Amino acid sequence: MSLLLATDFAPDALERWAAQVRESLPDLQVHTRRDPAHDAGIEFAFVANPAPGVLRDLPRLRFVQSMWAGVDKLLRDPTLPDEVPLARMVDPAMNRAMAETALWAVLNLHRRFFDYLDQQRAKQWQPLPQRRANEVNVAVLGLGEMGRTTALRLAANGYRVSGWSRSGTPIARVDVHARDAGLPQVLAQAEIVINLLPLTARTHSLFNAKTFAQMRRGAHFVNLARGHHVVEKDLLAALDSGQLGHAVLDVFHTEPLPADHVFWSHPKVTVLPHAAAQTDLRSATAIAVANINAVRAGYTPAHLVDRAQGY
Ligand code: NAP
Ligand code: GLV
Repeated sequence: MSLLLATDFAPDALERWAAQVRESLPDLQVHTRRDPAHDAGIEFAFVANPAPGVLRDLPRLRFVQSMWAGVDKLLRDPTLPDEVPLARMVDPAMNRAMAETALWAVLNLHRRFFDYLDQQRAKQWQPLPQRRANEVNVAVLGLGEMGRTTALRLAANGYRVSGWSRSGTPIARVDVHARDAGLPQVLAQAEIVINLLPLTARTHSLFNAKTFAQMRRGAHFVNLARGHHVVEKDLLAALDSGQLGHAVLDVFHTEPLPADHVFWSHPKVTVLPHAAAQTDLRSATAIAVANINAVRAGYTPAHLVDRAQGY
């Protein structure tokens, strides 16, 4: 019985992780690459941004654990076996990291610290008006593991928080709106809009000329989810026209962001290298191992992906 680690990790990082997995699952053989000599015995896979096709033709594969929270790229791989259950990573440590990144972005935008950075470069000494957190409405789109943790963190820091999800499940201290009909109101009332939606057929290109126009003039946009949620040329037009004030972008159509991309040097864009919430292998491996043990004991693993919904 064996387990495949399929990742884009550098070889030394992969070996360190394999050692950790072997220690946690001592009775499984752990392989770090496909090989005809052992492929027939692979029953489990842990995947982290794997190359498309890596899970093809594994006749005994019975469970796949994504080490990433978002599974959009995996689901786009036509060779991903339909019948094999797929779980995504849900890790409180990762949720907290995401909430920290969102809070950092919101504090910078609300207190205008990005403007002070520009002023420093220009050797300009100019205190700007200071507003209170409870005067700032922040919208969190997507209120799942990451979005809910983020919304609660922002509320705890005094912000007025609204949110949007499919179900509209209530969250204390958050003004929750639901379904397509709820989106325009959430966009219209927010000064800062944070995207924490999964990338699905329904959310692809959701941030476009129409939705940017529904935001308040000068609103700020923070994308911590996936690049393809955004129509990049529409975002640039909204920034250049002043419809949007500033964009904090962690995710892009092409990653790494190409050296000649306009976002790198755009004065109203802050770029992060897809680092808003990285998988923490210490806690994530324990979560993945618990899921393998559940499957082996005949239980349903946690956080299975609903393939019809795409998340
Ligand atoms: P999640 O728990 O599955 O939550 C998804 C949320 O989005 C849910 O609230 C869901 O509504 C809502 N939603 C889905 N489709 C919708 C639609 N069509 N309209 C309105 N709401 C919709 O996901 P998560 O763990 O919070 O992760 C969210 C995303 O963050 C991931 O998919 C990934 O793309 C991104 N991410 C980025 C990084 C990074 O470093 N940049 C790291 C981790 C994750 P319901 O509550 O009604 O189901
Ligand atoms: C990272 O983007 C993830 O989905 O975990």
